[in-house]
Amino acid sequence: MTPSEQSARALEVCRLAPVVPVLVIDDLAHAKPLAQALVAGGLPALEVTLRTACALDAIRAMAEVPGGVVGAGTLLTRADVKAAKAAGATFGVSPGATDALLDACAEYELPLLPGAVTASEVMRLLEKGYTVQKFFPAEQSGGAAFLKSIGSPIPQVSFCPTGGISLKNAHDYLSLKNILCVGGSWVAPKEAMATGDWAAITKLAAEARALRA
Ligand code: 3PG
Repeated sequence: MTPSEQSARALEVCRLAPVVPVLVIDDLAHAKPLAQALVAGGLPALEVTLRTACALDAIRAMAEVPGGVVGAGTLLTRADVKAAKAAGATFGVSPGATDALLDACAEYELPLLPGAVTASEVMRLLEKGYTVQKFFPAEQSGGAAFLKSIGSPIPQVSFCPTGGISLKNAHDYLSLKNILCVGGSWVAPKEAMATGDWAAITKLAAEARALRA
């Protein structure tokens, strides 16, 4: 799968809603109700980070939830890409980009949203054909002001920023021409998951969905 084909799919995923929940799942039993709660609130694209022991099984469980589009985040290695694809992830997200990771996504046909934070990193990915990129860690790397500035010389790249974004500052990003959506963990707080308060998560998702009319 070429980088351009991967970005075409990433564009579709990023256009589904203004926010992509970034999920850290510690308990496999949370996976399905969490996905159902987020989809019910209007957020279908879900990024499950490969940071916990049950992450791959969580992807498997969430992939069965109607209306959900489940991807794997925190992809660092070729093995991560292979495992994510086998678990049923339909897209991948990485904090940065290495040649080994990009080669693996091409080989295993996993559309990747690769991370970049400098003009050179953005240009390097663009040169390969990635026109949709993640900007991480967003707030710590210059935030919306940086993305607005980079949109002048490099308008052909669109971004999904993540890291430090919440309901408070999401609009700063979403109002920019080169931002497709934002990613964030605030829509799935650990306390709500631990107590099984799925209604609270649906409410947070609906608030996030309403960031764009
Ligand atoms: C991450 O990979 O942790 C994401 O960027 C989410 O960041 P957040 O917890 O600040 O939303």
